[in-house]
This record gives sequence, structure tokens and C-alpha cells, in this order.
Amino acid sequence: MDSFEFNKMVAAILIALLTVKGASLISEILIHPHMLKENVFKIAGVEATQTADGGSAQPKGPAPIEPLLASASAEKGAQVFKKCASCHTIDAGGANRVGPNLHNIVGAQRAKHPGYAYSQAMEQKGGSWSYDDLNIYLYNPRHFVPGTKMSFAGIKDDKERADLIAYLRQETDNPPPIPDAPAASPGTPAEKPAALAPTSSAAVPPISASPVAPEHSPPQENKR
Ligand code: HEC
Repeated sequence: MDSFEFNKMVAAILIALLTVKGASLISEILIHPHMLKENVFKIAGVEATQTADGGSAQPKGPAPIEPLLASASAEKGAQVFKKCASCHTIDAGGANRVGPNLHNIVGAQRAKHPGYAYSQAMEQKGGSWSYDDLNIYLYNPRHFVPGTKMSFAGIKDDKERADLIAYLRQETDNPPPIPDAPAASPGTPAEKPAALAPTSSAAVPPISASPVAPEHSPPQENKR
């Protein structure tokens, strides 16, 4: 009896499994699923993070902005800005809408426009809006600032984005200079004088090396 009960239980489980499997087999026969060749919603930077472990500073998404800015058109950028205008004004002293006013945004500190309540994510990001940051942010806002409340997919077209940034620059009173394309070796000339310094620093004694110092700073020692 017991083993018969047991057999019934096993049979029940097997039938259940077979039914599930069978149903999926039948449904696969009836419906021919085709996998998409690529995702409908592309998540920018995903490939970059997968290949370059540790996440390199340059996601593969947006092209570097410096070379693009050289030939960018602020006029065309003004057209592109229409995509932003539903949420942002850009004229001096313009109102905050869904997003903050964007006058003087290039080089500005992040999340600092007066009278606007930023998301925590944006406030905690810190730093300032360099051309590079704008480039990466406008390519994919949520990727650059996860948790931002700017619900905008981003502008994937490099040229369009460069035009837009040129326009943001035009609407900034004292924009920072456009950085040169990756500088070859600006560090070396500055380092050479430093390398020569030791000889001259011996001539001009640093505070610690000065034997005269005790005369100038004994008050504390005298107190003992
Ligand atoms: C659907 C509304 C919406 C659209 C469209 C939109 N933004 Fe925004 N934007 C926001 C919001 C909201 C914030 C504040 C984000 C936060 O606090 O996380 C913001 C923030 C920003 C910031 C940071 C401002 C600061 O003071 O730090 C920049 C730069 C910006 N947007 C540029 C743009 C540009 C350029 C476009 C057009 C390509 C655009 N946005 C399109 C809503 C929008």
C-alpha cells in the first residue's frame, strides 16, 4: 500500500512535469519565436562596461567632443535645443521649468541653478559641466547620472550633440575654452623645471632646512 501511494505521488509529479514541458513544446511548435538580432532599447555603455572591465573613463558611446566642436554649428544646435525646450529655458534669467534654466551652463557647477530642486543623484554627482561631461550626459543622461530625474533618452547622433553643445556654449557668457584634442605632452615642459629645481632650492633654503629658523620660532620652546 505504502509503496503504491508512493508510486502514485511520483507518477503525479512526473505527469505534472511532462504537462509543463509538453505545453511549452507544443506552444513552441505553434508559435515560432524569432529572437531579435539586437535590442530594441539599446543601453548605451553596456558594451563598454562589458569589454573594458573596471569601466574605462571613456564609454564607447559618445565620440570625443573636442574634434567635433571645432566644426559644430551653434545655429543648428539651436534647432536641436527644441528637444530640450519643453523642459528647459536657456535665456538669461529664464524660468526653471521641469528642468533648470540652462543659461551659462557650460563650465557651471552641477546642480547649482538657484531655485531649482535637483534630484539627489544630480546633487551628489558634484563637479562641473565640462564639454566632456555635457557630451557624455547628453548622450545618455541616466548612464552618466544614474537616478537623474531628467527623463530624456539622450542624443545619439554625434554631430547633432556637438551642434547642441556649441549652442549651449553660445548661451554661456564666459564659456571655458574648448579643450584641444588630446594634448600630446603638455606635462613634460612643466615637469622639467621641477626636475631642475633641487639645485636652486638648495640655494633658497626651504623652511625646514633653514638653520636660522629656531631664532624665529622659539616662543613655544621657551614656554616649557
Ligand atoms: C523631459 C524633460 C527634460 C528634457 C526634454 C530635457 N531635460 Fe535636461 N533636465 C531635466 C530635469 C528634470 C533636470 C534635473 C535633473 C536632476 O536633478 O536630476 C535636467 C537637468 C539638466 C542639466 C543639468 C543642469 C544643472 O544645473 O546641473 C543639463 C545640462 C540638461 N538638463 C540639459 C538638457 C539638454 C541639453 C536637453 C536637450 C537635449 C535636455 N536637458 C532635455 C529635464 C529635461
